[in-house]
Amino acid sequence: MYRDVSTCNTYNYGDALYWDARYIQEAASFDWYQRYSALRPFIRKYIPTSSRVLMVGCGNAVISEDMVKDGYEDIMNTDISSVAIDMMRRKYEHVPQLKYMQMDVRDMSFFPDESFDHVIDKGTLDSLMCGTDAAISAARMLGEMSRLLKSGGVYMLITYGDPKVRIPHLSRPVYNWKIELYIIPRPGFQRPAGSTSSIKSYLEPVPITEAGLLPADFVLEDPDSHFIYVCKKMDETDLS
Ligand SMILES: C[S@@+](CC[C@H](N)C(=O)[O-])C[C@H]1O[C@@H](n2cnc3c(N)ncnc32)[C@H](O)[C@@H]1O
Repeated sequence: MYRDVSTCNTYNYGDALYWDARYIQEAASFDWYQRYSALRPFIRKYIPTSSRVLMVGCGNAVISEDMVKDGYEDIMNTDISSVAIDMMRRKYEHVPQLKYMQMDVRDMSFFPDESFDHVIDKGTLDSLMCGTDAAISAARMLGEMSRLLKSGGVYMLITYGDPKVRIPHLSRPVYNWKIELYIIPRPGFQRPAGSTSSIKSYLEPVPITEAGLLPADFVLEDPDSHFIYVCKKMDETDLS
């Protein structure tokens, strides 16, 4: 599992051929970073079960299946890999709540503006950031996420990228997003003996400074933590 740009440069994670080959070799379901059980508090807080949800770069993860088991009614799953999409479409052909379409997240013109209530991205912006022309790809993708969201909807990004490397991309004024940040440890992380923090604290948003950084005194308990950016699309008239 990759963590940062220096390690992700080993492979071209922005390349459809790379992902097709990978999904042919590794057909078994796999969820990057976190399973639904760990993300559920955040997803249920921001995304009502009746929402029309877009899951970008779904791969062969089971998060969408788990969301349906938890009551979600309508999830459109997309991925650039036709191998992954064909596989998932067959697997879930009897689950009407799940739909699958092969699509590049940088060009989702198939869908009209404001097609979705909410968007979930677990590891897809990360993939683009590992590819060639990372900044341009990220801007194209995030522009599409903003365009596809209804006003008040959230783009929920689950990533290994800390604010220093993600906020510069997410905070462009054109998106008009209000951003909240949560930080959760990787699965299996053992809290050091004597640690005073409680599990409840992961459910509290972490402030981001004006410069788009973590507060200077913030202690990242797990250095391999995952970051959840909840980017809420504000109304054009909302100046907050
Ligand atoms: C790190 S994996 C994450 C898969 C899944 N979301 C999960 O949580 O397990 C990144 C996914 O993004 C997809 N992807 C990469 N570039 C893409 C693009 N330009 N458009 C759509 N999907 C893309 C890959 O095919 C892959 O399935």
